[in-house]
Amino acid sequence: MLDDKLRELAESDVYPFHMPGHKRRLQSPADPYRIDITEIEGFDDLHDPQGVILEEEEAAAAIYGADRSYLMVNGSTGGNLAAVFAATHDGDTVIMGRNCHKSVYHAAELRRLRTVYVYSQLTPEGMAMEAGYEGYRQAIDRHPEAAAVIVTSPTYEGMTEPLPEIAAYAHTHGMKVIVDAAHGAHLGFDPYFPPSPVDSGADLVIMSLHKTLPALTQTAVLHCRRSGDDFWQSRVEHYLNCFQTSSPSYVLMDSMSLCLRFLQQGRERFAAYAGRLREFYRQCKTLRRFYVEARPGQDPSKIVIFAGDSGLSGGEISRRLREESRLALEMSSFSYCLAMSSVMDESGALGRLFDGLRRMEEGDLLEKKSAVPMLRQPFAEHEAVLPLWEAAASSQRVLPLAESAGCVAASEVCLYPPGIPVLVAGERIKKEDVELLERAAEAGLKITGCFRGNEGGVSVVN
Ligand SMILES: Cc1ncc(COP(=O)(O)O)c(C=O)c1O
Repeated sequence: MLDDKLRELAESDVYPFHMPGHKRRLQSPADPYRIDITEIEGFDDLHDPQGVILEEEEAAAAIYGADRSYLMVNGSTGGNLAAVFAATHDGDTVIMGRNCHKSVYHAAELRRLRTVYVYSQLTPEGMAMEAGYEGYRQAIDRHPEAAAVIVTSPTYEGMTEPLPEIAAYAHTHGMKVIVDAAHGAHLGFDPYFPPSPVDSGADLVIMSLHKTLPALTQTAVLHCRRSGDDFWQSRVEHYLNCFQTSSPSYVLMDSMSLCLRFLQQGRERFAAYAGRLREFYRQCKTLRRFYVEARPGQDPSKIVIFAGDSGLSGGEISRRLREESRLALEMSSFSYCLAMSSVMDESGALGRLFDGLRRMEEGDLLEKKSAVPMLRQPFAEHEAVLPLWEAAASSQRVLPLAESAGCVAASEVCLYPPGIPVLVAGERIKKEDVELLERAAEAGLKITGCFRGNEGGVSVVN
């Protein structure tokens, strides 16, 4: 039973280097059942805030320096859907990073948008870098008709984009700028971390509080920049209403309220956290096989452990950290794995992670072993045969993955996490995609969107 499993986990000694950012270390000041209410007198209404919820939203706007902030209970997923709908009309063109989360693709599908992608380069180890200003500038020049530009920054692995430059250029073309900063709610509280995306001039910035801050899963905030358009804010509010439950949880809203108090009062905790991270990265310079270093422009809270010449895959490193050091990581890929730190980490947690890596090196890994083969570009350019929504709505059949190369995908297929589509509806499937997904399945990575899970097939257009 799920409840038994959760209680077992709560009692276990496995330390979470994964979401949520509260790291399961907070005690709720109130029993959730005692504060779980609906919109009764005196408790305001998330969809028409005028009292205590509006006060929280004003506090969020003041903390982040936004014109208007909205609390959300359907994560950044709901925020991305609402933002894309607010910034576009049916049939519009949007410019978006090919590394966008699936919620942005879903918004594009439902809004029947034409999508123009901006691609990121990979590091030699196969991690997606930022796409950079030039990529967005060229896409804007080629598609001046686009209604909006959608940028993910920071990415799942913490890479950041030059948002002020991208936003300024998009604005000179009259485009709205949406930043999916689901992973960036902790930015701006200490100079060790990249600047806050809210300061970039973007029109809408979406942040998951639950990913990197002490707040319950599903909690998020959308920041809105005022524009000259009288209807802009009401469009945003309308779509937030459409994409979120009409019974928002007061338990979640309470958690956001507490998180906002933490942000108002806890800046020195970010400075201490930055100090712990600095020390961790300094120690990691002494590792001989693994490679752990924050790149320029990368959010150092995302600890990317590259396999280096250890001969291990990301999945093996992750498994061994769990078995040998009782540390659970957020994600593993072919040649790296990702540990998510947060301001809520126990003071000794980063030391435990370093010790775990060092122990592995001192054990059976002293011999230099060949590098794990690099993952080929997963999000590279594909032939777009049909608009995304048209492919998704078309008549389709399911083919075994191995037979799908050359066909047009009818729905997206993601490696999960991070939930960035490898196959996008409407694009022709390449044999490299099939190889990638087969290798991912062999490596035990989770694939979503395939019929019947990893062994299943792919929906293709008839
Ligand atoms: C870049 C990005 N955007 C949006 C989301 C969705 O966020 P949420 O889980 O808060 O709905 C995720 C989730 O992992 C993500 O990685």
